[in-house]
Amino acid sequence: MTTRPCLILFGPPGSGKGTQAKLLRDKLGMAHISTGDMLRERVVLAKQEGSTDELGKAVAAIMQSGGLVSDELVNKMVEDRIEQPDAANGFILDGYPRTVAQAQLLDCVLKGKKIRTVVVYLKVDYNVIIARLSGRRQCPTCGALYSVSANSPVVSEVCDYDGSKLIVRDDDREEVVLQRLKAYESQTAPVLDCLKSAGYRIFDVQGDLRPPQVIAREIEESIQREFGTARA
Ligand code: AP5
Ligand code: MG
Repeated sequence: MTTRPCLILFGPPGSGKGTQAKLLRDKLGMAHISTGDMLRERVVLAKQEGSTDELGKAVAAIMQSGGLVSDELVNKMVEDRIEQPDAANGFILDGYPRTVAQAQLLDCVLKGKKIRTVVVYLKVDYNVIIARLSGRRQCPTCGALYSVSANSPVVSEVCDYDGSKLIVRDDDREEVVLQRLKAYESQTAPVLDCLKSAGYRIFDVQGDLRPPQVIAREIEESIQREFGTARA
């Protein structure tokens, strides 16, 4: 039976889940599983001319409104994804679970497979989130994340790694960000208590006021204490 580790990065939109997952995946040798990225990939394909993926088109509309996609679709995506070979040594969940129903399903999967799990709760002030998301830029080719204020590319609007022109996410407009925060408050925030009651260790980490690398080091130290030095 496997004892591979799982790190759940939990927090509101813009709290830095994607940034931290990208910094930690190589250091910890764990796969990065982002339900948001997986859904965006599906939406790109569904929007292509001639696509008959009606579910993908429906997902696009939900994401643009700031709401959550169905538990059924997301649960199935994650159950399949954690069985891929790159997740065999452990995985980082970014943006999942996001409802109590998702947390309940995940709890069964993790306990059934005896996967050691730690939850990191990235706490960030909502005013900081709104400012951050309006300045977020992303590379459409390699996925690198930037911020026009805190972490800007060397050449404005151009990816440092592959020279692609950076894009703004469709759901980073302020009115959509406010809807995403509402969805977080009503559907996602209760997940933390659910995970606590299920017995998972939760580390609270201050997600603002410090550079991403400093936050990543704190998370890494907590995880290594929890999982043991074998992964160092
Ligand atoms: P998803 O893609 O998961 O978006 P999210 O949770 O709203 O979070 P973000 O990606 O916006 O923020 P983040 O926490 O990753 O922060 P980041 O590192 O980018 O989901 C999108 C949509 O998909 C959902 O709305 C929903 O419709 C659907 N969906 C996804 N999962 C689902 C699920 N499980 N169930 C149902 N529906 C689902 O950082 C943000 C910015 O801040 C960047 O510019 C970054 O450079 C900057 N930054 C990061 N850290 C710092 C720092 N320490 N200091 C200064 N700036 C920083
Ligand atoms: Mg993200």
